[in-house]
Amino acid sequence: MTASLFSPLRINGVTFKNRIGMSPMCQYSSTDGIAADWHMVHLGARAAGGVGLIMAECTAVSSKGRISQGCAGLWNDAQVEALKPIVAFQRQFGAVTGTQISHSGRKGSAATALEGGSHLDMDDPDGWQNVGPTSDAFDPDGARLWKAPEALTVAEILDIQDQFVHSAKLALEVGYDLLEVHCAHGYLLHSFLTPLVNTRDDEYGGDLRGRARFLLETVEKVRAVWPTQKVLSVRLSVHDFAQGGLALEDTAQVGLWLRDRGVDILDCSGGGAVPEARGAIGNRTAEQPDMAGIIRDATGLAVMAVGGITDAAQADALIRSSKADIVLLGREMMRDPHWTFRAATELGVDTRHVLAEQYGFFVGAS
Ligand SMILES: Cc1cc2nc3c(=O)[nH]c(=O)nc-3n(C[C@H](O)[C@H](O)[C@H](O)COP(=O)(O)O)c2cc1C
Repeated sequence: MTASLFSPLRINGVTFKNRIGMSPMCQYSSTDGIAADWHMVHLGARAAGGVGLIMAECTAVSSKGRISQGCAGLWNDAQVEALKPIVAFQRQFGAVTGTQISHSGRKGSAATALEGGSHLDMDDPDGWQNVGPTSDAFDPDGARLWKAPEALTVAEILDIQDQFVHSAKLALEVGYDLLEVHCAHGYLLHSFLTPLVNTRDDEYGGDLRGRARFLLETVEKVRAVWPTQKVLSVRLSVHDFAQGGLALEDTAQVGLWLRDRGVDILDCSGGGAVPEARGAIGNRTAEQPDMAGIIRDATGLAVMAVGGITDAAQADALIRSSKADIVLLGREMMRDPHWTFRAATELGVDTRHVLAEQYGFFVGAS
């Protein structure tokens, strides 16, 4: 039977009640990486609104893996304790709970996006020395992300891999169902994968296999501590949208390597590695959701499609045409936390049980 937006999906021991997910979105509302009341409202409201998968924002594996001081983190017990009730609350509404563990790499040490998002001066106490595959800055002559990173040594690469593993163990303690490794948008793992940034000549650079080494080793180590009944995802920039960058045939190959290492689903985003690339956010990604289908066909893995999806019929068509297993919405979920309810209404699906009972009882209809 053809799957549709409201068909359940089962991966390993996890059942998604529908194929709609909220895309991870930084909220710049944490202190010392600790989630706040805002996260309960932001994530909880979408769970009450009927979303099948709630992805928490990119959550740093270390203090210096954050983009800014306002970013979420998962490296200590205080962060775990703050997240536990938030995740338990989302689960009350039948949402699958996910988080995205990440390291900012050369884009880190910035003001929050709400404060302009620019790199902080070297002597700013809120900043730190950022890191990358090489010492090349993201945008050396630009006004925003100009800070030159320190090139990571192999020992430092292995330390960061251990931090990913530690975060994965903490994510398990929090109770998440789905764990995503962030390898998109020019952050650390993507900056190693793309030839636009990684010009190293050691075993972590060179050809695609060398550039993928950091990601693949990290994922292998994370999978070893992330239970097989739970879901492991990787977010890739499946296309760099810049001359000489990663194209779909490259990321499809990476997807096959990830499949061999136990990844269950690929979250297919794009862009972000270099200033001239089209953005990871924005309206310039009209073809991006369809790219998920190409990666799905090439790898045999389940995929999530994302980028500019606002319309229920469009989202439903992505599932029905087997281009995606889950569709993610970012900004549209900001506009309407009850988008799932709206989609059900527009698609003529029974809306009685879409919203939390407190609302659905009164406004849902068969
Ligand atoms: C405020 C904001 C914060 C974001 N933070 C993240 C993030 O933490 N991790 C990530 O992978 N993508 C992040 N993104 C990208 C979104 O997840 C999504 O891929 C992008 O916005 C395109 O989807 P949309 O057109 O539905 O918004 C962010 C986007 C926005 C608007």
